[in-house]
Amino acid sequence: VDKSIDLKKAINELKKEKNAVILGHYYQQGEIQDIADFVGDSLALAQWAAKTTADIIVLCGVHFMGETAKILCPDKKVLVPDLNAGCSLADSCPADDFARFVNEHPGYTVISYVNTTAAVKAVTDVVVTSTNAKQIVESFPKDEKIIFGPDRNLGNYINSITNRNMLLWDGACHVHEQFSVEKIVELKAQYPDAVVLAHPECKSVVLKLADFVGSTAALLKHAVQSDAQCFIVATESGILHEMQKKCPQKTFIPAPPNDSTCACNECSFMRLNTMEKLYNCLKYEFPEIEVDSEVAKKAVLPIKRMLDISE
Ligand code: 13P
Ligand code: SF4
Repeated sequence: VDKSIDLKKAINELKKEKNAVILGHYYQQGEIQDIADFVGDSLALAQWAAKTTADIIVLCGVHFMGETAKILCPDKKVLVPDLNAGCSLADSCPADDFARFVNEHPGYTVISYVNTTAAVKAVTDVVVTSTNAKQIVESFPKDEKIIFGPDRNLGNYINSITNRNMLLWDGACHVHEQFSVEKIVELKAQYPDAVVLAHPECKSVVLKLADFVGSTAALLKHAVQSDAQCFIVATESGILHEMQKKCPQKTFIPAPPNDSTCACNECSFMRLNTMEKLYNCLKYEFPEIEVDSEVAKKAVLPIKRMLDISE
């Protein structure tokens, strides 16, 4: 990219010219969140994609989010600034292995977290996000036999709050599993009034320490509505941008990872997207998300079922 280009201005011009919409996840870097037409959690991004009238959707997030948008809008062009923006949680659930697991358990309803590939969604009965997982699981009878994948931490958490015994896939997110219990305890001692907010993808020992557990959107809402002035935030640190923007007077401390030498509370995949790549992808309409039409035909059903339940 020519260094003299005003990227913000150029992106806004291209967006208008091409009737494109920029959707950004809360874990994107601040500049991208600021230029996005809409910033949200994974449920909100899917809901937004489903109703946009734009010709092009630029999904500033990771690959599975782009796939979900493409499956919902097969006739639109869906771009992701960097196609290498994958997800360790989605990678922890290879479609062939998951399909075999499902086949080995006839009679089970399959509930999959949205952080999965389209091929996993194609063998799923209903998709959930961390915002609606409890509501959707509870929409099934208490004795329903359920497979829940791929996040074992979210699965354990939903099992505990709904008093169920869903069969769990053994997957996890490398960012959310990194938070250090000892360092959070130390921070709590240092800031006794601080409220600990945690995403359900965190390990159960971290969730036990938390004052409030929820999806990124729920953590944000809680931070805004709470009377507390200080928060320790155990999720990807990109969310602090919106928290600080909405609550400039409050203090937000990112929960530290076990390894203090790395920025492990940042998702390396999410952070692959940059303003330069966003500009290039709008300009050249590349890279584009493609989903096999047979896979998409099956995967759209559990996604739509989720959207219908969460309306
Ligand atoms: P939510 O956006 O549903 O909170 O999920 C968090 C996440 O890890 C997205 O990759
Ligand atoms: Fe995947 Fe974790 Fe990154 Fe979210 S934060 S995209 S779950 S690796």
